Amino acid sequence: MAEADVKVRGEIDPEKDFQLSIPAGRTNFHVKGMDNADWGMKDRLSRIFQPKSGRTLMLAFDHGYITGASTGLERLDILIPSLAEDIDVFMATRGALRTCVPPMFNKAVALRCTAGSTVLSGDVTDETIGVDIEDAIRMNASCMAVQTFMGTADEKTSLTNLVRTVDAGNRYGIPTLGVVAVGKQMARSPHFFSLTTRVIAELGAQIVKCYYCEDFEKVAAGCPVPIVVAGGKKLPEDQALTMAYRAISEGACGMDMGRNIFQAPDPKAMARAVAKIVHEEYTDKEAYEYYLDTKK
Ligand code: R5P
Repeated sequence: MAEADVKVRGEIDPEKDFQLSIPAGRTNFHVKGMDNADWGMKDRLSRIFQPKSGRTLMLAFDHGYITGASTGLERLDILIPSLAEDIDVFMATRGALRTCVPPMFNKAVALRCTAGSTVLSGDVTDETIGVDIEDAIRMNASCMAVQTFMGTADEKTSLTNLVRTVDAGNRYGIPTLGVVAVGKQMARSPHFFSLTTRVIAELGAQIVKCYYCEDFEKVAAGCPVPIVVAGGKKLPEDQALTMAYRAISEGACGMDMGRNIFQAPDPKAMARAVAKIVHEEYTDKEAYEYYLDTKK
């Protein structure tokens, strides 16, 4: 320690500048509802949500854990490196990441942490926690994704998976992303999404994912943590961009898009066009023009 610093008596060195005109200790954290989170949690949230825009673009390619190789996801080892620079977060399983995605991209990871059923059984709602917290830490997960099936016979099981993951994540400063699943029995109504997003947030998840719906502004306003919107089934590119634009304009803090990116004729151009809406305030029309101009 320098000699000047060990003087404990007398006046403070007048040459030290404490910048008294600026209120001390203020942080304006950019992620909704997370002012009181711990430093490690905030650091991980800042890897997910860009501090400049406050938003995120997640690339979802976790479909294989239920469906096997979805159309467009046959070769993750080729596709994902080609899109890495255009998105903020890899949303994926540990198996896909470890086998197909080189770790040098330094992207945030939304780690799929539930498992238990596939399309072969005809019912995908029966899940359990599928990843130990130690392995999530080993994977350097920025958040852990848990599917919830509210309104089904498996509601209690999936909400138990959620709260156990939140507890484990809170022990180590890892946020939990609660996903609102929709299925045959579940209506995609504003009431359903308003209720389910709020339940997930109140159970402690730091991020919620759901689908876009009518009255989304009210859904987002009633959810005290950020909502990221899933892309859903493949739409024509202009319609997918309009959906993303409406979601962001009406309060979503990001998109978690899979099929509408990786099944597009030019996935890279599509990822970039969605990023323009998410981070650069492009309208849907501007983003679609950008897509047409840049697609190969
Ligand atoms: C659900 O959580 C899925 O596994 C996907 O992550 C989600 O549906 C987003 O992908 P897509 O935009 O294709 O719907």
